[in-house]
Amino acid sequence: MLSVSGLCASYGAIQAVKGLEIEVAEGRMVAVLGANGAGKSTTLRSIAGLHRPITGSVRLEGAEISTLPLFKVVRRGLALVPEGRMVVAPLTVEENLMLSSYAGRGVSAPLIERVFELFPRLKERRWQTAGLLSGGEQQMLAIGRALMTQPKVLLLDEPSMGLAPAIVDLVFEAIVTLHRQGQAILLVEQNAEIALSVCDYAYLMKRGEIVSRGTVAEMRAQSAVQDAYLGG
Ligand SMILES: Nc1ncnc2c1ncn2[C@@H]1O[C@H](COP(=O)(O)OP(=O)(O)OP(=O)(O)O)[C@@H](O)[C@H]1O
Ligand SMILES: [Mg+2]
Repeated sequence: MLSVSGLCASYGAIQAVKGLEIEVAEGRMVAVLGANGAGKSTTLRSIAGLHRPITGSVRLEGAEISTLPLFKVVRRGLALVPEGRMVVAPLTVEENLMLSSYAGRGVSAPLIERVFELFPRLKERRWQTAGLLSGGEQQMLAIGRALMTQPKVLLLDEPSMGLAPAIVDLVFEAIVTLHRQGQAILLVEQNAEIALSVCDYAYLMKRGEIVSRGTVAEMRAQSAVQDAYLGG
């Protein structure tokens, strides 16, 4: 469904990622693992159309989207939950959600109710200013905001970052629920343990390249993954 081929991205003369081949089939949850600076965010941002100095192909349901303007990429069905959440701090929870639905395929009450069902905490805080939410609540809002565009593939950049373990569990429970409901997800994580506990398939990036890939069982068995990310 989402198919990335030969993707390279650069910052000026610096090539940040190269030759990426990534696939996310319908309804799958796929992880991209890698240490600090491996190129995970650049990969997601390039797929989502937020980072443009790229070559290669990004196809969604067979159609090339890497040349489309950002608003069309969103309407075709890709939504990025960025590293650091990036909620609109002065607006309320509900305003953040509504704003995002305009970027998608239209405003609808059932959409916002679906987000509130997934994250009851957001419903409790719907009139609260987003900037005053806790980190975990902001992460929930960032995910909710992406869902308001009704993505075919949801792109998540390090949803666990900076959150206490109990809150990470809450956020990941919601991610698993979404996946069970059939949502295709491409998840970028430094926390390989938690990513491998929820995804179907994973890629490992090092210095801008994919160095291994496989099912969860295969990735767990690989010594490179074990050594680098799962404590040996
Ligand atoms: N705006 C930028 N300008 C120049 N170089 C950049 C920029 N953003 C990232 N890079 C470089 O590109 C490479 C990949 O960075 P990227 O942020 O994609 O990695 P990451 O895997 O997401 O890291 P992290 O785990 O820290 O989020 C790094 O070497 C980084 O220094
Ligand atoms: Mg990153």
